[in-house]
Amino acid sequence: MKNGTIITIDNLVKRFPIGGGHFTALEDINLKIETGEFTGLVGPSGSGKTTMLNIIGSLDNPSEGDVIVMDTSMRGISAKRASTLRKQHLGFIFQTYNLMQVYTVYENVEFPLLLLKMTSSGRKKAVLNALEWVGLTDKIKSKPKQLSGGESQRVAIARAMVKRPQMVLADEPTANLDAENSHHILRTMEKLNKELNTTFLFATHDDKVIKYMRRIIRLEDGKVVADNLVKN
Ligand SMILES: Nc1ncnc2c1ncn2[C@@H]1O[C@H](COP(=O)(O)OP(=O)(O)OP(=O)(O)O)[C@@H](O)[C@H]1O
Ligand SMILES: [Mg+2]
Repeated sequence: MKNGTIITIDNLVKRFPIGGGHFTALEDINLKIETGEFTGLVGPSGSGKTTMLNIIGSLDNPSEGDVIVMDTSMRGISAKRASTLRKQHLGFIFQTYNLMQVYTVYENVEFPLLLLKMTSSGRKKAVLNALEWVGLTDKIKSKPKQLSGGESQRVAIARAMVKRPQMVLADEPTANLDAENSHHILRTMEKLNKELNTTFLFATHDDKVIKYMRRIIRLEDGKVVADNLVKN
């Protein structure tokens, strides 16, 4: 699928049970994201950005309404179908990295390719290439515990991009990066977006990221309060 709508969000509501009641984290969201967009979800802490990315990434389900990603409904999606979708088409950069602690940097980045049953020489080329993007070729044998916050974040970015997925969901991908690394990574993402039409959806507070966005969707208290195309 190279053109057309990649994400349709249709009257989405997300509630979390808390105590005896519930908390509404997303309220009646309607959005469409087209293939090849480079879009930021912005808004204060607690406004629902991560919740929305988790549902789009099939890591969580809608309470009401639906989210359709590449023609697949997230409403009642089976665990198997969700895992196939993630494995084949999605790269997810987690706010908290989610690296596998017992594996090296190299093995963490290689993992998505093992799931795709790629050949060993193909894997090696792709992993080294991804680690070069993020400037970590000197750390391939390190374990996550031996890395700084920014280095861990860059491993998470390499892992999400290594298979060149159709869509990357990036949750605060630069929270721990210095300005130089942030710009380098955003430029690399922009290049992938232009060359392969990869769709990028970011959740971010970071002005350094926001200035690269071509569309900015603003969430407040679980609602979309602004949605603007920007020229840059
Ligand atoms: N599993 C959960 N159970 C209960 N409440 C939750 C759960 N997950 C998120 N929330 C609540 O939903 C709201 C939105 O959370 P979310 O993580 O989506 O915010 P965010 O916009 O990503 O914030 P931040 O910028 O701090 O990362 C918050 O008030 C949070 O406390
Ligand atoms: Mg968040």
